[in-house]
Amino acid sequence: MPGKTAEEMALDQKEISVAEFFEKNRHLLGFDNPAKALITVVKEGVDNALDACEEAGKLPHLKVDIEEEGKNKYSISLKDNGPGIVKEQMPSIFGKLLYGSKFHSRKQSRGQQGIGISASVLYGQLTTGKPAIITSRTDKNSPPKRFKLKIDTVQNEPEILEEEELEDGFEPGTEIKVFVEGKYLQRYHSVDEYLKQTAIANPYAHIEYSNPEGEDFDFKRAAHELPPEPKEIKPHPYGVELGVLGRMLKNTDSNKILSFLQNEFTRVGRTSAEEICRLAEVDPDKKPGKLKHSEQEGILDAMQKVKIQRPPTDCLSPIGAELIKNGLEKEIDAEFVTSSSRDPEVYRGNPFQVEVGIAYGGELEERDTEKVKVMRYANKVPLLYQASSCAITKALEKTDWKRYGLEQPGSNGTPKGPATIFVHLCSTWVPFTSESKESIARYPKIVKEIKLGLQECARDLKRHLSKKQKGKKEKRRKKIFSNYMPLVLENAVELTGEGEDLSIDPIMQRVIDEELVEKVEEGEEDE
Ligand SMILES: Nc1ncnc2c1ncn2[C@@H]1O[C@H](COP(=O)(O)OP(=O)(O)O)[C@@H](O)[C@H]1O
Ligand SMILES: [Mg+2]
Repeated sequence: MPGKTAEEMALDQKEISVAEFFEKNRHLLGFDNPAKALITVVKEGVDNALDACEEAGKLPHLKVDIEEEGKNKYSISLKDNGPGIVKEQMPSIFGKLLYGSKFHSRKQSRGQQGIGISASVLYGQLTTGKPAIITSRTDKNSPPKRFKLKIDTVQNEPEILEEEELEDGFEPGTEIKVFVEGKYLQRYHSVDEYLKQTAIANPYAHIEYSNPEGEDFDFKRAAHELPPEPKEIKPHPYGVELGVLGRMLKNTDSNKILSFLQNEFTRVGRTSAEEICRLAEVDPDKKPGKLKHSEQEGILDAMQKVKIQRPPTDCLSPIGAELIKNGLEKEIDAEFVTSSSRDPEVYRGNPFQVEVGIAYGGELEERDTEKVKVMRYANKVPLLYQASSCAITKALEKTDWKRYGLEQPGSNGTPKGPATIFVHLCSTWVPFTSESKESIARYPKIVKEIKLGLQECARDLKRHLSKKQKGKKEKRRKKIFSNYMPLVLENAVELTGEGEDLSIDPIMQRVIDEELVEKVEEGEEDE
């Protein structure tokens, strides 16, 4: 049988719409099973709400409401008090995949790909056939707008079913309501847990949540100020790739390569720019668009060789050691909490920073024999899945926890004990291992920083545990004495015939101080 010809095969070629692609590959975006899908929808909505509030300089107040609408069917509604969205943008934001304001920006934010919320709308329409309902109001002086919409997956364009202006009665901000197939669980991987972890890492947010069982949660604020807004930065010359450089050269407004280097990159001044041109043997006055391929390679190469200051770090927005402590303390009733925030570092030209917290004992005591609970975060967003491939897990397992007082089965692995370990990585570009943003790629530089952060907190934990151990010893000593002392006193009184009102406490203290107990204890152990 003859095979197909190139001409016949040509007839089968077709462009694939990104919406169709993700319709078939929804697992890539975190919709691989109903339980996870429910969390993903909440996560995408909450990420956006927090990003929008912070960008607008408003203390976030979120309301999340999930209701069961039938077997394995839920409605999810998310309301924020953010800046709202202008009417013209509403359909594209929610009805078009890969549409957003953050993809091209080099600034720390929760969203980066422009695919989060529209993917939730897509998932909803796929599994329930229902449109999403979006309501938004930008300020008190303009009426709230509401759209009912679906995504035309072939075109990757919004399909507006209904559009209306509401009467008053909707506070400024945005509300999104989607209907999805899902499964509500109450275990570690749950919306309840996701929101609790979000509240810990974002203690300046107030989150109200009502779960499908009708339980209400109120995660109150532990801080009343927003962290400083991160600044946007230009790319740093270290780690830029040839294709990116080529595009920048083509699109720049600068008309000389010398000014191009200074204007389009961070930390490149006149001296470094001249040095780059000299090393690359390119005329500094040459038009950027006129550079030959070999000259572009030369510039790229020279950029890696010239000594250039690290990128600035005010583009990062860490949580800060104090807020991490506040966040952990407000949601976990622990006996001891410590935290640390490391100095910023750089991987492939991207600044990043690691923060760690440990909560120990108290209400966690009941999980004494279990593995510690690890809360992983990237840009203040909890990561619940794919722990095993994550840089945070790797760093945790490579740490020698026995040295710090926690049990660790085998030479490395997750430690055991009544502790919760919190790790946050923030960066202008988090290297996620997939589009669903569940785990951080294991760049050695990142793993190393996390490990150092863990060790910093672990040392505090160790100090606490030693103190506790000492306290326990003291208590035991006192107990031995209160058992024996009356007997000793009785005999002493009998022997001397006086001191009926001899008080026991000062004597006990003296004996303890003189460390006589040590001897008694040693004797006990010998038995
Ligand atoms: N609640 C909201 N308030 C204001 N703007 C929003 C809100 N949700 C989404 N947006 C805007 O819509 C864009 C697209 O959102 P999304 O699809 O989640 O992608 P990403 O968050 O990765 O940019 C965001 O970049 C933001 O500009
Ligand atoms: Mg988003």
